Amino acid sequence: MKALRPFGTTIFTEMTALAKAHKAINLSQGFPDFDGPEEIKKRAAEAIMNGPNQYIPSMGIDALRQAVSRKMKRFYGLDVNPQDEVTVTAGATEGVCATFWGLVEPGDEVILLDPAYDAYGPVAALTGAKVRHVSLKGHEFGLPRKELAEAFGPKTKAIVINTPQNPCCKVFSREDLSFIGILCKKHDAYVISDEVYEHIVYDGRKHETLLSIAHLRHRALVISSTAKTFSMTGWKVGYVIAAPELSRAVRMSHQFITFCGQSALQKAMAFAIDFPDSYYEALLADYTRRRDWLCDALKDIGFRVFTPEGTYYVLADIRPLGFADDLTFCRMLPREAGVAAIPCSSFWKDRRQGRELVRFCFCKRDETLQAAVTRLKRWLG
Ligand SMILES: Cc1ncc(COP(=O)(O)O)c(C=O)c1O
Repeated sequence: MKALRPFGTTIFTEMTALAKAHKAINLSQGFPDFDGPEEIKKRAAEAIMNGPNQYIPSMGIDALRQAVSRKMKRFYGLDVNPQDEVTVTAGATEGVCATFWGLVEPGDEVILLDPAYDAYGPVAALTGAKVRHVSLKGHEFGLPRKELAEAFGPKTKAIVINTPQNPCCKVFSREDLSFIGILCKKHDAYVISDEVYEHIVYDGRKHETLLSIAHLRHRALVISSTAKTFSMTGWKVGYVIAAPELSRAVRMSHQFITFCGQSALQKAMAFAIDFPDSYYEALLADYTRRRDWLCDALKDIGFRVFTPEGTYYVLADIRPLGFADDLTFCRMLPREAGVAAIPCSSFWKDRRQGRELVRFCFCKRDETLQAAVTRLKRWLG
């Protein structure tokens, strides 16, 4: 299809295939090499055995929408009506599709902040919208307020925010998000906010959901997922939270994409979301430990490392090691070192940007990370 031609195959597919071909340790695509808690699996297995196993309501089972509503109160103090403000989707990925296709018309403009997670561009292109790319600034990935204000105009339908941000691992501050709220109000625009890493935020920072920002309670469509929080990326249980009129738009398209998700997995995730605080604290403590270990190890090898504020990725500058081009480096890495990573220029519209950066993920067992570092040391050392 013409609209999709510029995007080719996703970089995640390419790098995971290279990792497989060379039996490399895959620190490219962001999936854990361990599963989430056994109790969640048991719940899903019981739900399958006990049934029913037929279509469920398109918007998702009541228990999961209730759990999402409780979660929004518990973590953010927000009242979300499970009946008309929560729509369960097949992962955040379908949440992004359903949101775009329910909201955005041909001829509208959508703003993306580069580097951007790779699904947004193609999904926006399929709506017929014009995409305006605004690059975050420098290696701090600061919000360029002037350029952003200039990118908004009469045709702007929405801006996509991803916080914590993949790939740059930034957690946007309340001040930055408030600035976006003001722009959206001024231009009568919406925010499509991807918050799948909401529980992986380091060093005492706080995740701010866009629904809690002034002017955005009725303008934000927040997309999240159980994939990262419960280490079950293959289950694809996500959801969109938005005011009733916006949820109606999401549900209109969702009914024709998947109609509904998987009942047993939704039941199990309804149970998981209500886990006590100790679960969420342990998840964060665990990722903090892995983050610190991998950052130190990569520094030790000679990369320049940017300590992540959130997510389970880390960006590393390859120039101190004598390399200049991320794509060449990442295509060589599985074969030469036996490790796979993601070249970051693929997250920019203008691929001349980010060529000095590669992304490693650390949602892996300690022994996997240790083996990857040993291999990198052997090759680069
Ligand atoms: C920013 C972001 N959004 C969405 C997704 C996909 O989430 P899901 O597996 O729930 O579709 C990912 C997965 O890596 C991601 O990094």
